[in-house]
Amino acid sequence: MIVEVSNILKRFDDLVALDNLSIKVQEGEIYGLLGPNGSGKTTLINCILSLLKYEQGEVLLFGEEMSPKRYDLKGNIGYVPQEIAVFEELNVYDNIDFFCGLYISDKKKRKKYVEEAIEFVGLNDFKKFYPKKLSGGLKRRLNLACGISHKPKLLILDEPTVAVDPQSRNSILEGIKRLNKEGATIIYTTHYMEEVEQICTKITIIDKGKNLITGNKYELKKAVGLVDTLILKDIECSDEDIENISNELHESVVKRIGNELHISIKDSMLVSKVLSYIEHNNIYFGGMTVKSPTLNDVFLEITGKELRDY
Ligand SMILES: Nc1ncnc2c1ncn2[C@@H]1O[C@H](COP(=O)(O)OP(=O)(O)O)[C@@H](O)[C@H]1O
Ligand SMILES: [Mg+2]
Repeated sequence: MIVEVSNILKRFDDLVALDNLSIKVQEGEIYGLLGPNGSGKTTLINCILSLLKYEQGEVLLFGEEMSPKRYDLKGNIGYVPQEIAVFEELNVYDNIDFFCGLYISDKKKRKKYVEEAIEFVGLNDFKKFYPKKLSGGLKRRLNLACGISHKPKLLILDEPTVAVDPQSRNSILEGIKRLNKEGATIIYTTHYMEEVEQICTKITIIDKGKNLITGNKYELKKAVGLVDTLILKDIECSDEDIENISNELHESVVKRIGNELHISIKDSMLVSKVLSYIEHNNIYFGGMTVKSPTLNDVFLEITGKELRDY
């Protein structure tokens, strides 16, 4: 186990920011912490890194108990904070070199690592630029380069794509996938469910400091009873046909909405049953699509609120 957080309780005065929260991150995962603003994601990261004290609970990193003085453990971690943390008085190259130098003392090796990080985030043309000359997206990429240059085994990224242009966002997401393929375990916090769907192999949905549910995206949707909906457009069928299809599909819900037929598909094998009924009864339809539930739907099922409302 790379990270094991057990029953963390963290208060800020009267506010319970982490409420008996536990997570386990295994080697090779891209672990997403998905939750609205204020749900406790950054607080959790700060507790994992021993940057904050907590009232109760335990954090194990690489199987060992984490504490503020465990520099040996910290050397295996890359941390990209939510607030951009780079030195305004250092240029791009020197910023990355500084952070890399905290862990890599061999000069030759460090030069290689810094160059690789620059290449990785696509800042080759900006090596001599000072941060204030960089756009928001490029600054984010610099922040990322500072966190990854020492090639950590565990990389923790706190909302690395907030307020960046789509091009930088894609470059960051693709970069994270590549680092993961090269062996890094990733913890990724965000309030953007699309990003979690795109890159995370495991997800914890967090709200009000609680772990609401954990699993891969399919498990989360299944756990709250959400299934794909097959939509047949411009269909010409009778109410009797709808009843027959319902009967064939047992528990699936079949609904006519306007001139569409919406069929919830609990098991993908049922699709062929629907299509074969339609073929045998010469039913005309104009086209079809499949609508899959989103993580917003999962969040809505559990909390009664929309994730995107925040
Ligand atoms: N230093 C602090 N002092 C008091 N309250 C805090 C502090 N840091 C965070 N909080 C509160 O803790 C809760 C969780 O915050 P945070 O972990 O930053 O959430 P997230 O990262 O998910 O947006 C919020 O209600 C926030 O206002
Ligand atoms: Mg945060």
